[in-house]
Amino acid sequence: MNGDTPVAWENSPSMSAKNFDMEVKSFGDKKIITKTLFEKDVSKTRYFKDFINSLVEEKAQILIKKKKSLKEEREWLKAKLKGVKEKKSVFLVSWHNKKIIAEAEIYLLEERKEHVGILSIAIRKDYRGMGLGTYLTEKILKLAKTRLKPIPKIIRLSLSQTNKIAMKLYKDLGFKQVARVSHQYQFNGNLIDELIMILEF
Ligand SMILES: CC(C)(COP(=O)(O)OP(=O)(O)OC[C@H]1O[C@@H](n2cnc3c(N)ncnc32)[C@H](O)[C@@H]1OP(=O)(O)O)[C@@H](O)C(=O)NCCC(=O)NCCS
Repeated sequence: MNGDTPVAWENSPSMSAKNFDMEVKSFGDKKIITKTLFEKDVSKTRYFKDFINSLVEEKAQILIKKKKSLKEEREWLKAKLKGVKEKKSVFLVSWHNKKIIAEAEIYLLEERKEHVGILSIAIRKDYRGMGLGTYLTEKILKLAKTRLKPIPKIIRLSLSQTNKIAMKLYKDLGFKQVARVSHQYQFNGNLIDELIMILEF
């Protein structure tokens, strides 16, 4: 099948810190492969589309609410790859059983905000609560320190006020809530506040 997860990944040695490009780690009984985004991933667009659309279907507490087409997802992926190549973004993708099960990203803002990195993370429903979110957040923070140009001084993220699990994860990793903006997200017909959290790097 074109674009499958190569079997060789599973046997490759883990890489650490600066040289990290791939790591295999067990969470419970699941062996999860986490890789940095790279050029060949464009040929795997449908896996990325399946992942985001699974979150949309579930009505997860993320910004996106409309399912993506293959074309939209390919354009999105190409833009992400450009960001990675230009060192303006670091991006991790976790795989299990030929499915994408998590993504994490930090991208730099521009101009007078080029010292600010924006963090986002999402895990597929069946893979939550086993430590993957914490692992990926720690990993992407380390990557941001070694790969982004300039190295960010501040990492910022947004979440909805009702996303208690995400809130706990970020607080445990040292993020502090710095702002609350009323009525920024629509969920199930309700207007929910946006919380902004910051990590001084
Ligand atoms: C938020 C999210 C990234 C967390 O990832 P995760 O892999 O489930 O988190 P972890 O397993 O690392 O758990 C983080 C902490 O939350 C706790 N937690 C996880 N799931 C929980 C649950 N269902 N109930 C209570 N606590 C829970 C964990 O116990 C852990 O705390 P601990 O270290 O003290 O044990 C994940 O739930 C997700 O992708 N949600 C949907 C998308 C989303 O909300 N993204 C964030 C937008 S800002």
